Amino acid sequence: MTYPSPSPLEQSPSNRVTEEYRILHKVAKILQSPSDLEKLLQDAMQSIIEFKELKVENKAGIFLADEKKRVLRLFNTYGAFSEEFLEKEKEVPFGDCLCGRVAVSGELLMSESCFSDVRHERTFSDMKVHGHYIVPLKSQGYLVGVMFLYTDTNPSWYQHSQEVLLSIGGLIADTIQRKKLEEELARHRQTLEDLIVKRTENLRATNQTLLDEIEKHEETQKTLLNSQDQLRKLSNQIQTIREEEKSRISREVHDELGQSLTGLKMDLLHVKDKCPEESVELREQLEAMIAVVDNTIKSVQRIAMELRPPILDAFGICEAIVWQARECTKKLGIRFDLQGLQEQVKIEQDLQTTLFRVFQETLTNIVRHAAASRVEVSLYTESECLILMIRDNGKGMNEDDIKHSDSLGLIGIRERVHAWEGEVEFQGSPGKGTTVTVKIPLKK
Ligand SMILES: Nc1ncnc2c1ncn2[C@@H]1O[C@H](COP(=O)(O)OP(=O)(O)O)[C@@H](O)[C@H]1O
Ligand SMILES: [Mg+2]
Repeated sequence: MTYPSPSPLEQSPSNRVTEEYRILHKVAKILQSPSDLEKLLQDAMQSIIEFKELKVENKAGIFLADEKKRVLRLFNTYGAFSEEFLEKEKEVPFGDCLCGRVAVSGELLMSESCFSDVRHERTFSDMKVHGHYIVPLKSQGYLVGVMFLYTDTNPSWYQHSQEVLLSIGGLIADTIQRKKLEEELARHRQTLEDLIVKRTENLRATNQTLLDEIEKHEETQKTLLNSQDQLRKLSNQIQTIREEEKSRISREVHDELGQSLTGLKMDLLHVKDKCPEESVELREQLEAMIAVVDNTIKSVQRIAMELRPPILDAFGICEAIVWQARECTKKLGIRFDLQGLQEQVKIEQDLQTTLFRVFQETLTNIVRHAAASRVEVSLYTESECLILMIRDNGKGMNEDDIKHSDSLGLIGIRERVHAWEGEVEFQGSPGKGTTVTVKIPLKK
């Protein structure tokens, strides 16, 4: 909004009031603009100078107050000031000269002449006679700074001019405060942003390190899994080879050794037949020899059976388990409760071998560690899985044996079952026996 300037001829009181409002409005508008503080104050001072009624000369300036150090610091000037002035007025202690006095009193001050006013303590070589308005810049009762305006030696000093100066001082003070707060806010925001940037960078770096670590771990894991896989394959291969070897040795021992021994026995019987009745001593010797050969034949059969019971190949896993259980009862008196073993289970030969070896190892453990009197064995299918369960009533395997067993028996069982993508579970409770459950998915 612009107001018509009153003509210099008609400075009636009402025109003066209009002019005062106009100047106040202009300064208020300038101070609201978004420029930086220096520019705002420059423009504000220029507007005041344009207010003819105040008789302000073309010179003004603003000090900012440092309450802690009790000094005014020259912040901004308008008009031509000498180097000497600018240097000397850089800092004015509170109480010094006109401005310092206003800083202490907080009251508006008018001085008619720098030469006659004793309060005007500071002088400069090029000083010409002039008057002053010294305006306190107060925001919410707090002194922010001091503004000085040069006037002619006959300043306007009426109630309205003082009110206008004080109002302008208040507006300028509020603006300085606001700008200071804005600056502080901007500083805080900047600090915060810097912090965020730094933090983000740190996080990104940490994240990268973590990603690298994860990648490294994954690679190591892959390598480990690979070598584990290779070891498994190797172990399976060794098992297969061992089974084949056992099978071959068992066959050779049983067939060749067995047949030779049977031949030997028949020869001995023949010789015994031919031997005269009177050669009692010789016949006795021959009978003893035949008994030894009989025993050897039994041993050979037992060894062959133990290496790989032909019953496993001939009749399958169920019969083999029944046979093994009977042997155990015969030798150790352990009673067996066999379930589901009457039926013929149709599974591959290798899987039969696996199940039989698991059963044998479990039985060996029962004999060695469990001190059991009864063993329950069941073999059945459930949800497309073949399940072999062996339960004893012995002293019970403990958690430590299960979790931390580094003895090869349990590891061997796990590995054999794993080769068929199966699972094995060992459960034991003290005094209540042990249950070993093997679960193998049946391929369609
Ligand atoms: N049926 C069982 N009853 C009680 N303890 C058992 C049984 N089976 C295994 N254990 C315990 O688990 C351990 C690990 O078994 P295993 O790996 O076969 O090793 P090993 O038989 O050579 O000691 C055994 O030493 C034993 O303490
Ligand atoms: Mg064992």
